[in-house]
Amino acid sequence: MKLWGGRFTSGLNDTALKYSSSIEFDSLLFDEDIAGSIAHASMLKKIGILKESEYKQIVDGLDTISYEYSEGKWKPGKNEFEDIHSAIESKLTSCIGDTAGKLHTGRSRNDQVITDVRLWAKKHSLLIMQAIRQTQSVLVALAADTTEVIMPGYTHMQQAQPVSFAFHLLAYVEMLERDYKRFAFVFGESDQSPLGSGALAGSTIPLDRYHTAETLGFASIAKNALDAVSDRDFIIDFVHSCSVGMLHLSRFAEEIIIWSSQEWNFIKLGDAVSTGSSLMPQKKNPDLAELLRGKTARVLGQDMALKTLIKGLPLSYNRDLQEDKEPLFNSAQTYYDSLCVVQLILQNCSLQPDRFSKELEGSFIFSTDLADWLVLQDVPFRKAHHIVGEIVRYCEKNNKKMNQLTLTELHTFDPHFNESVFAIFNLAASLKRKITVGSPNPDLVKKEIAGWNKIIGDAPATKS
Ligand code: ARG
Repeated sequence: MKLWGGRFTSGLNDTALKYSSSIEFDSLLFDEDIAGSIAHASMLKKIGILKESEYKQIVDGLDTISYEYSEGKWKPGKNEFEDIHSAIESKLTSCIGDTAGKLHTGRSRNDQVITDVRLWAKKHSLLIMQAIRQTQSVLVALAADTTEVIMPGYTHMQQAQPVSFAFHLLAYVEMLERDYKRFAFVFGESDQSPLGSGALAGSTIPLDRYHTAETLGFASIAKNALDAVSDRDFIIDFVHSCSVGMLHLSRFAEEIIIWSSQEWNFIKLGDAVSTGSSLMPQKKNPDLAELLRGKTARVLGQDMALKTLIKGLPLSYNRDLQEDKEPLFNSAQTYYDSLCVVQLILQNCSLQPDRFSKELEGSFIFSTDLADWLVLQDVPFRKAHHIVGEIVRYCEKNNKKMNQLTLTELHTFDPHFNESVFAIFNLAASLKRKITVGSPNPDLVKKEIAGWNKIIGDAPATKS
């Protein structure tokens, strides 16, 4: 059955139908479409378009369709319908007959589709927010055990200053918090009912838009019918948020890959999250992390695809807009799955906590601390920086670590040096000397962890 007919003498060409059908992907909107139709029918009953008995017939019909669909007893043929919305309407007609024809009163697929997508976006932004919280809680739990595990912090991929593994993990918790806030924003932007906007200009029938909005749990209604059916901003916000989220996860993926390399040998990935090589027997590869990094590309592409779709598109609905769904659905699924995979990787890796103790003891990684020490003896920082630079050069030339220098040697660079300077080179004590808020001092990091535990609470486990 087609949704139109009077004006046409023949049906849509098969190739044209195949090209234009969205049913393969918009079936994901099945539940939302049923809910939207029930709300619309309830409103039509309220304003006297549907009799009580007709309303009941429609709702029973929709419930049956829902049951048959979820049980796999009915599946709309993919070369039969333009989309899930027309498939459901057609099925309703075959279930209950002519009364089904009253359901579409005052409704266009233009407002119907975007109402469904908004309901979907609300539901899935909440699911993603939950997955973000869960990922944060896994990171924070690992951080709680590693406030004293020292690793080199890098800038320009060159050893810079010592930090703790916990401190490094908490940087990702901060990034995820911004992602969480972005999805809270997306939820709010999606929370507006377009239903009752019709094709683009409302209706001559006294539709009660507040009734449908309230029934569907929307916070408010879209105020301009033309904008309501044209607007895809909340989808752009959604996919943009997925793409920023994926950027963060891809940075994490890259670090996992580096840390698990033989050169770093800082973490070992468990068998559950590693793969082997078909040729090289010794290999254990971090494929999951590589795929996290790789899948970021498609989400970034989908973000750009959506923006390109909207660019220059005149108001209001144009069929181009059907192309909004695949980027949305795929980005949401990819980001959600990637969050679950990050949790899995973290739960399946073991740390080599002493990996850097020997390597960093007395190394140049303490140069800044040494300059700071001179500053506290009243040496101007620029001068202190220069003195330590000379010491580094001297050590390199003489193949010495900083903690191997004698006081006599140090005095050749500056007279302020005394015995107490050697405490600087003690790796275990190095983090405790940091006193600024936001630094890796273990006591401060523990406070941060306590703060996060309060925010995160008991985030429920996510399922993929
Ligand atoms: N499947 C279409 C979409 O998702 C349905 C909208 C059809 N509206 C129309 N006026 N042809 O955008």
